[in-house]
Amino acid sequence: MQGEIATTVAADWRQAQRIVVLTGAGMSAESGVATFRGARHALWERFDPMQLATAEAFRADSALVWGWYLWRMAAARAAAANAGHRALAALAADKPGCTVVTQNVDDLHERGGSPAVLHLHGDLFAHRCFDCSREYDGDPLIGVDASAPQQRVPPPRCHHCGGPIRPGVVWFGESLPERAFAAALSACERAELVLVIGTSGLVHPAAGLPALAKRQGARIIEINPEASAISSLADLHWRSTAARALPQLRDALA
Ligand code: OAD
Repeated sequence: MQGEIATTVAADWRQAQRIVVLTGAGMSAESGVATFRGARHALWERFDPMQLATAEAFRADSALVWGWYLWRMAAARAAAANAGHRALAALAADKPGCTVVTQNVDDLHERGGSPAVLHLHGDLFAHRCFDCSREYDGDPLIGVDASAPQQRVPPPRCHHCGGPIRPGVVWFGESLPERAFAAALSACERAELVLVIGTSGLVHPAAGLPALAKRQGARIIEINPEASAISSLADLHWRSTAARALPQLRDALA
């Protein structure tokens, strides 16, 4: 059964020239990075995003927010790319018209060998000043204990204006990075095939990309062990995990 699906998806992959791969937290789940929804230990089951992932929350209690992000940074840094990240990098390297778009703020696609990933929700490690937006190049994990999520740690201060440093992620209510989103939109408008991997499809505007591609005629394939908000528009739902399905797809194409 899995082998048959891999063969079908491999045929679609071979035929298409312009492909978009859109990934979400499920892509990194088998690396040990927590997802946001669905699982018992998922982040938004345990923590309130309104207290941790908005500019208002940072203004109200920057030490609480910064401490929580330090914990997430430490977890992401300790994780390693999984077989799915590596297989996707190999697949995309053989397909010049393939664009990898992620909602993930970790760097596991890059560490798995994908050089040019569009990060729609920012980058956990691209710290910047909350007040003047200048980049901060210090390593905030040096010398701090980031082993628990609820430790309050005051953020470092900006070398230029003295403002507090914030993580380089997109918070609720904020706009997506313009260039990355424009490039993702344009790739989806032209795509013949979109592979949607490990996302609940609930957070817009990123979640709207597969529907947009479908309206332009793209075939949509979902890789996710569970149903998601994307499933109803997918032409094919491969009920498997990223680290199992993607190596199978790579092997089917070899
Ligand atoms: P979610 O946590 O909402 O959804 C994770 C999805 O991955 C679910 O559909 C799971 O069924 C699926 N999944 C779990 N394990 C998997 C595996 N091993 N292989 C494949 N799929 C698996 O994550 P996102 O959809 O990425 O936003 O969340 C979207 C956004 O919501 C995040 O980027 C974040 C969050 O608030 C910001 O930080 C701005």
